[in-house]
Amino acid sequence: MKPTVAPYPLARMRRARQSPAIRGLARENSLGVEDLIWPVFVRDGAGVEEPVPSMPGVMRRSVDRVVEAAAEARDLGIPAICLFPYTDPALKTEDCAEAWNPENLSNRATRAIKAQVPGIAVMTDVALDPYNINGHDGFVENGEIVNDRTVAALVKQALSQAEAGADIIGPSDMMDGRIGALRRALEDAGHQNVMLLSYAAKYASAFYGPFRDAVGASGRLVGDKKTYQMDPANSDEALRLIERDLSEGADMVMVKPGMPYLDICRRVKDTFGVPTFAYQVSGEYAMIQAAAQNGWIDGEKAMLESLMAFKRAGCNGILTYFAPAVARLLKTG
Ligand code: PBG
Repeated sequence: MKPTVAPYPLARMRRARQSPAIRGLARENSLGVEDLIWPVFVRDGAGVEEPVPSMPGVMRRSVDRVVEAAAEARDLGIPAICLFPYTDPALKTEDCAEAWNPENLSNRATRAIKAQVPGIAVMTDVALDPYNINGHDGFVENGEIVNDRTVAALVKQALSQAEAGADIIGPSDMMDGRIGALRRALEDAGHQNVMLLSYAAKYASAFYGPFRDAVGASGRLVGDKKTYQMDPANSDEALRLIERDLSEGADMVMVKPGMPYLDICRRVKDTFGVPTFAYQVSGEYAMIQAAAQNGWIDGEKAMLESLMAFKRAGCNGILTYFAPAVARLLKTG
């Protein structure tokens, strides 16, 4: 359908922009607290909140503090929280066994939240990088990130997360075949209701830098992630990956990073019409915060505008470190 525009002055497009009330009526998209998933970093200890220097306003929290944060998020109406562990360097090994330890940080935090803040959905991350001595998302053999052996480990990791009570499992590793393997394993273990939100179109991006600081992976990464994460030059490949993951049993899909890849979000939504999420990643967050701290942009306005852009691009929801700040703002107006 082609939009019809009468000739000037019959049509004056500015009529629809004349006041807040009229703009509200004409607005095509909206941003709500129900669109938000809040990623949080978990560390060991008790009563600890430790700032992440490259992500102003973001903390690594001990499990008790994560529970408090989850309660606050629930009270603000945020539907889901996503856990990322900052693992003790002594527990990072070549075999990544901590990844499926029922008592690892992520699983302890999941159990604590489910017990004390039942109203909020818990999302967990499936990938080996927080536990891997060399910072990669998969096992490394002779310098190669191996696929199938990694998938078997991811299955163990995901099952331990489902046992702990995770509602949504987010495989962020980009190995081939993992969605099908995870879905079958979850069914076999009786976890029919556990959702898979696949990081299906995840690009090898420089915008993950601050996240790697936050989870303690920065100094460790040997080489880069280009043999498993996508080439930023590609777009058709994203559609093939999404189609593949849906056919293997993904319930929802994600594009990552967010803002530089809004064209991918739109293509995915238009092509498949499935629940589509974008991850406004650490580097995107850091850029907005850094510019705001320098007084170069209005941080609040830039935050809201950046998040609205995801809705306009067709996303159902956004993973964003801004979640509590934006929720508070939406509440108070
Ligand atoms: C790793 C993972 C990464 C992020 C989420 N899960 C980083 C990476 O792939 O190196 C990045 C999130 C962010 O930058 O905010 N499995």
